[in-house]
Amino acid sequence: MGLTRRRFLRGVATTAAGAVLGGRARRARAAPAPLKIGLLLPYSNVYAVLGESITDGLSLVFERAGWTVAGRRVELIKEDDEVNPQVGLRKAKKLIESDGVDFLVGPVSSGVLAAIRDTVHQARQILIVANAGNDEISRDRCSRYIFRASFSNWQPNAPMGSWVAAHVAKEAYLVAPKYAAGFDMMRAFKETFVAAGGKVVGEDYTPFPVNEDFAPFLTKINQAAPKVVYAFFSGSQAVRFVRQYDEFGLRARSKLCGAGFLTESDVLPAQGQSALGIITGHFYSTLLDNPANKAFVRAFRAKYARTPDGFAVQGYDSAQVIAHGLTATGGDTRDKDRLLEALRGVEFDSPRGRFRFDPRTQNVIQPFIYVREVREVDGELANVVVDRIANVRDPGTGCTLPG
Ligand code: PHB
Repeated sequence: MGLTRRRFLRGVATTAAGAVLGGRARRARAAPAPLKIGLLLPYSNVYAVLGESITDGLSLVFERAGWTVAGRRVELIKEDDEVNPQVGLRKAKKLIESDGVDFLVGPVSSGVLAAIRDTVHQARQILIVANAGNDEISRDRCSRYIFRASFSNWQPNAPMGSWVAAHVAKEAYLVAPKYAAGFDMMRAFKETFVAAGGKVVGEDYTPFPVNEDFAPFLTKINQAAPKVVYAFFSGSQAVRFVRQYDEFGLRARSKLCGAGFLTESDVLPAQGQSALGIITGHFYSTLLDNPANKAFVRAFRAKYARTPDGFAVQGYDSAQVIAHGLTATGGDTRDKDRLLEALRGVEFDSPRGRFRFDPRTQNVIQPFIYVREVREVDGELANVVVDRIANVRDPGTGCTLPG
C-alpha cells in the first residue's frame, strides 16, 4: 500500500535510466527522488500577503538546510488558490494527481480547506495545514492524513471570551466576514463570553472575500454603542476595517478587541495609529522572548527586510514538521503508515514555544494563547503581551483518531 501506480512507474523509470546511464547495471544507484512539496496558497486577493508570509517562513527552513532534507532535494510547486474553493479544489487535484507531491501545504482559507478535505483524504495525501482554521477539521471532518501546524479557529478566540468578560466589559458586538472562519471564531468567543456572564448586543457578518466599505456595519455599531466590539478580519480586510473603525470615531467609545489576525505584523504598518490599543488573542507575538523566536525574527528580517508575522511562523513550523518527520523515516515517503506515525510524534522548539500535535486531532496544541495590546515599541507598532493562557487544545469533539 502507499505506492500509487504513477509513483511506482516513476521509480522504475529512474532506476532504469540510472542503470543505462551509468553503464554499470548492477552497481548503479538511482539518486533519491526529489521531495515534492505542493504549496496551495493564495497569492492573489484578500489573503495574498498571508500566502507570501507562509511561503517566506517555509523557505527559510529549507534554505537553511541547503534545500535538502534527509538526502532528498526539496522542490516547491506553488499554486495560487485565489481564496476560491473551486479554484483550490482544481489546483489541489493537479498537485496530487499530476505533480504527485509528497506533501501538500496550505491553504489559508477555511472555505478552501472545506472544499479539498475529502479529495485529500481519499487520495491518502498528506496535508500540512499552514493556516485555514475550520474547527470541523479537528472535529467531525478530521483525517489521519491531515495535520494542522497553524490553529483551529476556536483556539485563539475561546480564551478571549472569558478574558474580555473578566478584564474589559460584559457587553459586546461581534463582527466578522460571512464565511466559515468568521462563524467559527465568533461562536468560540461567544461560548466562553456568555458563560462568563457576558451579553452579545449585536452580531454582523460582512461580505467575503470582497468588501471595500464597512460603513453600513459601523453605522449599526455606532447606534448600538457597545462597550466592546469583538472582530475577526485578516489581510486587506483587516487594514480597511481598523482604519474605517477609527475614521468613524468609534475608537473612543467602544474598545476594539478580536482574533490576533486583526493586528498581525502584516497589517500593522498600513493600519498605523488606528491600531493603537486594540486587544487581540493569538498564539504568537513577534516580541516573544525565547531563543527560537529571537533566531527566527533575526533570520526573517535579514532575508526579507520586514518584521515576520504569525503566518510566517506557520510556514516555518510546517517546514519543520516536514523536515523532522522525514528525518525520522530516513527520507522515506513511500511507507505512508510509517511517515504518518513519525509526523504524529514530531516535537521541536517553535518561535511560539514547544511545538507538538494533539494526537487526538493532529492539530497543534498552542503552548500559549497570548493576549496582546497594540502599542508603540521602539518607534514601531507591535503586539505587546499583557496576559497568556497555557496549553490551549481544540476540544476535538467528534474526531475519532486513535489519540
Ligand atoms: C481562515 O479562513 O480559516 C482564516 C483566514 C485568515 C486568517 C485566519 C483564518 O487570518
